[in-house]
Amino acid sequence: MSYPYQINTIQEYRKEYEKSVSDPEGFWEEIANHFTWRKKWNSVLNWNFTEPKIEWFTGAKLNITENCIDRHLATKGDQPALIWEPNDPEAHHRVFTYNTLYDKVCQFCHVLSTNGVKKGDRVLIYLGMIPRLAIAVLACARIGAIHSVVFGGFSAQSIADRLRDAKAEFIITGDGAFRGQKDIPLKSIIDDALIGVDFVKRVIVCTRTRIGVSMMKGRDVWWEDEIEKVETLGLKDFPAVEMDAEDPLFILYTSGSTGKPKGVVHTCGGYMVYTNYTFVNVFNYQPGEVFFCTADIGWITGHSYILYGPLSAGATSVIFEGIPTWPNAGRLWDIIDKFKINILYTAPTAIRSLMSYGLDTVKEKDMSSLRVLGTVGEPINEEAWHWYDENIGKGNCPIVDTWWQTETAGILITNLAGVTPSRPGWATLPLPGIQPVLVDEKGDAIPFEIKDNPTGQQVSGNLCIKFPWPGLLRTTWGDHQRCRTTYFATYPNLYFTGDGAIFEDNGFIRITGRVDDVLNVSGHRIGTAEVENAINMHAGVVESAVVGFPHDIKGQGIYAYIIYTGHQKNDDEIRRDINMTVSRVIGAIAKPDKIQFVTGLPKTRSGKIMRRILRKIAENEMDNLGDTTTLLDPGVVDEIKRGKL
Ligand code: WT7
Repeated sequence: MSYPYQINTIQEYRKEYEKSVSDPEGFWEEIANHFTWRKKWNSVLNWNFTEPKIEWFTGAKLNITENCIDRHLATKGDQPALIWEPNDPEAHHRVFTYNTLYDKVCQFCHVLSTNGVKKGDRVLIYLGMIPRLAIAVLACARIGAIHSVVFGGFSAQSIADRLRDAKAEFIITGDGAFRGQKDIPLKSIIDDALIGVDFVKRVIVCTRTRIGVSMMKGRDVWWEDEIEKVETLGLKDFPAVEMDAEDPLFILYTSGSTGKPKGVVHTCGGYMVYTNYTFVNVFNYQPGEVFFCTADIGWITGHSYILYGPLSAGATSVIFEGIPTWPNAGRLWDIIDKFKINILYTAPTAIRSLMSYGLDTVKEKDMSSLRVLGTVGEPINEEAWHWYDENIGKGNCPIVDTWWQTETAGILITNLAGVTPSRPGWATLPLPGIQPVLVDEKGDAIPFEIKDNPTGQQVSGNLCIKFPWPGLLRTTWGDHQRCRTTYFATYPNLYFTGDGAIFEDNGFIRITGRVDDVLNVSGHRIGTAEVENAINMHAGVVESAVVGFPHDIKGQGIYAYIIYTGHQKNDDEIRRDINMTVSRVIGAIAKPDKIQFVTGLPKTRSGKIMRRILRKIAENEMDNLGDTTTLLDPGVVDEIKRGKL
């Protein structure tokens, strides 16, 4: 099978883009026709951005797993769907053909079903990167339950928040997870999360590390026991549950500029079409190729480009349990050689980290199978881009710089591998169906024209999208108003991305980073307000302000200014303790890199913290603080400057 909607030349790109703007419904309908539907739609699109209401393929019925698994069985049942590489490089890898994946997913559907999971129920999944994570996710989708995967780096408190918000009555976890030299005690963290939670009916626990776990009778069951029961009963095929195109497929929590993380909701039909379309086109995927995305399935990148995008395209996708730097910085290059990977999709932070180990780990590796490279998660600096190009791609592989977000389901702005030109640091062109606009502070669209004879002229502003695409989020779980205020109210009739961008008159787009109070630390999205809340929970902390600062490897680091009046005296001990609190409340990923103790924070007369000033200081731009005359107490700025870490 090749893909009738695959774009193979720049002329085709222009033609498709043109069509997607002049006739969006016709454009997406034609693509959607290539999928397996139980029933086709009554209308392609119903929308307004004021409520917002976004519906794609209204009235259509399907199950995404019939598209990701069943429809491939006749033609590629014996082809590898998933290849799993364990954390320990000495341990055996495993291959799951489409046939095997079908059997395993059906079997686990029976486990879910016999444990009471029904269509529409929320299932929280907290697992390491093992095949059973993929099986659990797909089994939920097949049975119509709404999965909510929580990344293994989040704390018990974070799990509890998500569990309560989603009212998830079912949990799938493991005894523990291997990640580099660390073992994460998953079940024990889940047990902490469940203290005081009385609505969870079942916790299904699989074994991986065999660390000791507590198992509560009546609530906790072993994955393996449940599988055995299903086998004894001789249960095999599990008919996929018919879903409406607009039924929720999953909830994925993500951080914003305020308060608690929001549950981004994606639905079955549009999400499937969009992740498949972008997978096939951005990477120019050719049947039979091996695709390796290094993200964790706990993030949207893993959902869309380890599981749903590749599997719906009948591709072979690699799941890696470990981390790029363990047991040494050559781990990814070994995996590429071992499985003859054709497409590598990773984050700039991983590239920068591996760069820092020098070329010894790269030199001897045969990576001639590579055809396409990709990056995602944050802007890529030119140095990292060139290192990736020269040392990994050997100058032969197009690099796609893919810009998108949890809310967008899939890639929105990127070059197409081998089809449209790349430019270091630039995400370049919008995919067909995506209509970006720039607005100024006041919300006025910035006039801008793409020229046939470009002059290099640029404009910058806040990046918005003015028309829906099938992957756009539908709501935030349990709070539709929050979806509206966060994304659709800042600028009327536009989806606001939260990012700043530069447009050049050749049509290229460069993403400059978040313009709201969201940090991007090693490609992980963290709200400054969230970190501040966690810090403020620490005994003795009066107030805090968190900003980002440029970090060589992480992209952004977390800089916290803290007023502490507790009785502890040793600064390093206080820092360590505050970090412990942040780890408990959010997770280790949110620990500040730098903590500066201050006696006051720069505030306006109305009491608002002037983060701009704190950001400049953290960035070491002390002489360029701008207007400080409106401050309540300008004196604190000098003190903070003197104490800069
Ligand atoms: C934010 C979204 C998209 C999956 C991983 C992150 C930043 C993402 C790029 C890129 C510059 C990028 C943006 C965006 N971002 N990709 N290629 N160039 N910035 O998903 O956690 O939802 O974060 O990541 O700031 O808004 P996420």
